[in-house]
Formats: sequence, C-alpha cells, structure tokens
Amino acid sequence: MAQSKLFEPFDLGPIHLRNRAVMAPLTRSRASSDGVPKEMHVEYYRQRAGAGLIIAEATNITEEGRGYAWTPGIYSDEQVTAWKKVTDAVHAEGGRIVLQLWHVGRISHPDLQPNGGLPVAPSAVKPSGKAFTEEGFKDHVEPRALEEAEFPRLIQDYVKATRNARAAGFDGVEVHSANGYLLDQFLRDGTNKRTDRYGGSVENRMRLPLEVVDAVVGAWNKEHVGIRISPVTVMGGSSESDQQGVFNTYVEELSKRGLAYLHVIEGQTQGDRAKDGFDYDALRQRFDGPYMGNNEYDFDLAIRRLDEGKVDLVCFGRPFIANPDLVTRLRLGAPLAEANKDTFYGGDERGYTDYPALTPEEKARYVQAA
Ligand SMILES: Cc1cc2nc3c(=O)[nH]c(=O)nc-3n(C[C@H](O)[C@H](O)[C@H](O)COP(=O)(O)O)c2cc1C
Repeated sequence: MAQSKLFEPFDLGPIHLRNRAVMAPLTRSRASSDGVPKEMHVEYYRQRAGAGLIIAEATNITEEGRGYAWTPGIYSDEQVTAWKKVTDAVHAEGGRIVLQLWHVGRISHPDLQPNGGLPVAPSAVKPSGKAFTEEGFKDHVEPRALEEAEFPRLIQDYVKATRNARAAGFDGVEVHSANGYLLDQFLRDGTNKRTDRYGGSVENRMRLPLEVVDAVVGAWNKEHVGIRISPVTVMGGSSESDQQGVFNTYVEELSKRGLAYLHVIEGQTQGDRAKDGFDYDALRQRFDGPYMGNNEYDFDLAIRRLDEGKVDLVCFGRPFIANPDLVTRLRLGAPLAEANKDTFYGGDERGYTDYPALTPEEKARYVQAA
C-alpha cells in the first residue's frame, strides 16, 4: 500500500477533505437541453466520491453564459433541485463537492444564446474554432462587446448562481477564471480591447474578474470560494503579451481576498506541462492559502510535487473519467484504466457511469501483492 501525503486529510478552511486528490471539473455534456442534471449525474458523482474533493463540471450561471450543448446550469429551480440529489449522494459517501461557476463569454454561438442573440465578451474579437451546438459544430461568430451598464446585472448573475449552489448543498464554489472563458477574456490583452475602466492596464483588465470574485465571496463566504486559472492556455486564439506579469499581479490581488484555494492549470490545458517556461512557484509564493496543481499529473508527479511543497492538493481530470475509484487504485498501486475519448462529450451512461471500480477480489489481490 502506497504511503504518501496524497492520502492524508486536508482542511480547506471548514471543508474537511479525506485526502488531497481532487477530481477536476469535467464537462461531459449530458444534462437536458435546458441544463438540468439527470439521474445518471447522481450516479456518476456518487461513484467518484472517494476523491478528497470533487469539483463538479463547469456549470452555466445563466443561459447567456452557455457555450456548449447539454451543459448544466445553476440558474433555475429545477436545476437546483437536480443538483441537490448529486450533492446528497456525494455527502452520503463522505465526499465533498464544490461547483464550478461558468460564463463562457465569446466561446459560444447564437444557437446556444437566449433568443438566438450574439455571445457577449469584453470586446468584439471573434474566436477561432467551432462551438458545440445540439446540431453539431458551428463556426464561432464575432461576439458583442458588453456595455459597462450591463456589469451590475452580470455580477448579480454570479451572485444568484452562488446562492443557488449553496441551496443545492454544494460545499463551495469555484470561480472559473481559466481556459479562455469570460473572466480569462477580460484578463488578456488579446481579447480585451476595451478603452474604459475595464480595459488597458492590468489593473483595469483585472477589474471585472475581481468584482465577480468579491461578489461571489459576498454572496457566501471567502472560505467557500476557490478560483481556477490557466496562465498559459490559449483558447480560441486568445493571447496575452505578458502572461507572467498579469498572473503574478492577479494572484496577488486574489490572495488579499483570503480565498479557500488557488487552482492552477500548469501548462496548456490537457497538453505538455513542461515546456511553457512559466514560473508557477511565483504564483504559489504570492498566494497566501492552499495551492492546487493540475494538468497531466500521474502518481509519481503528484508525490514529488507534494513532497517538494510545491502544491497542497493535486487535481486529476482524465484519470477520474475511467477510474471512479482512482484514489483506491493509487493507494493499492493498481493499474489505471484508459478513458475513451469518443464518449467524453454527450451521449448516455456509456463511457460515463459504466467504468467499473475494482472488485473486492481485485482489491485483495493488490493488497497482497503490495
Ligand atoms: C472531457 C473534459 C472536460 C473538461 N471540462 C472542463 C470544465 O468543465 N472546466 C474546466 O475548468 N476544465 C475542464 N477540463 C480540463 C480539466 O479540468 C483538466 O484541467 C485537464 O483535463 C488536465 O488535467 P488531467 O491531465 O488530469 O486530465 C476538461 C477536460 C476534459 C478532458
């Protein structure tokens, strides 16, 4: 049986985690067309409750925030009721679960927007690539630049989503400020061309993301709010001329808020983590609170980074898709199953809830071998 810090408990403020292995937010596009999680979501998350913490899939704060077909929301009563079944199931297994709050900004399509409207963004900069709609992939369009007068309403959408997440029984929320979505679009000079108080200098570009964080904290409590960033990830052709400078400053500001954790995707999301030349230690040093590392972690890297004190928590994404009992397998040194990419997005229980956990016989075999 492997011994490692990974299997030691960790207190995220008032949220007690049984171990330090976190399940990453994973969009699986299996909710109803109006964003309501189904019974299979309850089973899927229940199966994975052995994670120290589950970060549930990115969840739309409003219809306007939606960029992918069949993604769940947290803005209607029906959605809240359905999510409550998920959180109850995870808690019944002794697990912990937070919800990732999502607004995709420009990474959407009129087919996914209320009344077929244009997606909104800091500026009218069209993303490259295609949107995933119910009718298949469609080219992104030029988004509509948000007017400053709309920001109070947008912030209120985050507040309502936070309150709803709390009512749905989540242990906290994670503000999605990564992967080229709305808040990340505000941070970067390639997607934020505004000339008002929300564009230009780094201070101005951080303004809306920080206002959102402050509002989310105000709607619950700093100890129940984490944030995810992806300093080097390029999405839809997004760019930033001074990644290190922007993210160092952003993290300094976030640190002042006393958040539950900083979640960092190290390297290009789902890509090579070694070659970006970004100094992640600089972020860790600037953040006074738990640091969660993600991207291409395997067991050895997790142990190494934990032992070196580079991370407090390790977040695994794809390994949790095919290994519902990932933590048990890592502890026993059992082999990991490979996920089938064809069933990542959309569809039914196949490739979702039918990946088996180890049987008691298999477990006994690995215990003996250890
Ligand atoms: C199927 C799939 C869905 C994803 N959905 C989300 C998401 O909803 N929110 C998010 O922040 N990242 C999302 N990601 C990125 C993962 O959270 C994670 O950062 C990435 O898979 C790298 O971690 P890994 O190497 O452990 O898989 C997704 C990745 C995959 C493969």
